Amino acid sequence: MSSRLVVAPVTSSTDVFRQDVFKGKVVFCTGGGSGICKSMTEAMMRHGANAAIAGRNLEKLTQSAHELSRITGQKCIPTQADVRQPQQLKDAVAKTMATFGRIDFVICGAAGNFLASIDGMSENAFKTVIEIDTIGTFNTVKATLPHVRASHGSYIHVSATLHYKGTPYQVHVSAAKAGVDALSAVLAVEEGPRGVRSNVIAPGPIGNTEGLSRLSNQSSDSRNGPPLGRVGHLNDVANATVFLFSDAASYITGQVLPVDGGIEHLRTTQLPYPQSMLDPDSVKHMIKSRM
Ligand SMILES: NC(=O)c1ccc[n+]([C@@H]2O[C@H](COP(=O)([O-])OP(=O)(O)OC[C@H]3O[C@@H](n4cnc5c(N)ncnc54)[C@H](OP(=O)(O)O)[C@@H]3O)[C@@H](O)[C@H]2O)c1
Repeated sequence: MSSRLVVAPVTSSTDVFRQDVFKGKVVFCTGGGSGICKSMTEAMMRHGANAAIAGRNLEKLTQSAHELSRITGQKCIPTQADVRQPQQLKDAVAKTMATFGRIDFVICGAAGNFLASIDGMSENAFKTVIEIDTIGTFNTVKATLPHVRASHGSYIHVSATLHYKGTPYQVHVSAAKAGVDALSAVLAVEEGPRGVRSNVIAPGPIGNTEGLSRLSNQSSDSRNGPPLGRVGHLNDVANATVFLFSDAASYITGQVLPVDGGIEHLRTTQLPYPQSMLDPDSVKHMIKSRM
């Protein structure tokens, strides 16, 4: 029997799905200026959708929108909005409607993260992450729902897997993402009868992202790595996005889809445990400063 690790291939959705699957459709994505959500938007555009990406940093958004338009041949516009501010989101949605006339798909992905124990986290820091991740998701749904109802469209909320168990140094994100998962389930049940679907994608650690770079000790070492043999790739989340928004998923709503190579079922912690709790100074070199 071979003892060689079999590593899951990295594929592109365009190798599997028709390239015009989302022709004439429009996606609105918070957090779309960078990382995972930018990659999710890119995949939708590669299948024919136009897009609006929202975030706080207009320069970053504008640059990303140009890049996405250039590499996909579709149109992407930057819409500046802080998801904590309902009016800013409504303005971003109004700009999207004025440009494209419809919104079919919404990706709620804006989020903040840093590593801190409960003991070392201020009340304000905890509140800020809840405000961006959970309340920001609610605000995004409120701002977009009339248009998604009109198009019988669909939501994907970008969550995480870390709240399925107690993950040290992640109380804020754990609480926030648990709220996001709950919100999506209610949205699925309330809006299903109007033809609107809502699902969650829960990425595991994804390489080449801001989120993962916050742990400075990331490595390609496969010991204790995901069962599928490698760290997550941006394409892995993008491919799941294309599937969940497509008609192939027309009977799937209210679900949470972990995209983590099976690591959720492997019991480990990212920082040495319990050393990281008993002697936080000893792991300080492994933690980057907050945003
Ligand atoms: N990376 C991972 O391994 C991983 C694992 C599990 C889950 N996730 C989730 O995946 C999503 C993307 O993470 P990422 O690692 O790709 O990080 P990222 O590149 O930092 O993406 C976060 C995005 O959210 C935007 N954002 C932050 N605060 C905002 C606010 N108040 N209003 C509007 N936009 C805001 C940021 O843009 P501005 O700064 O311009 O506002 C940024 O574009 C997040 O929901 C994260 O929780 C990531």
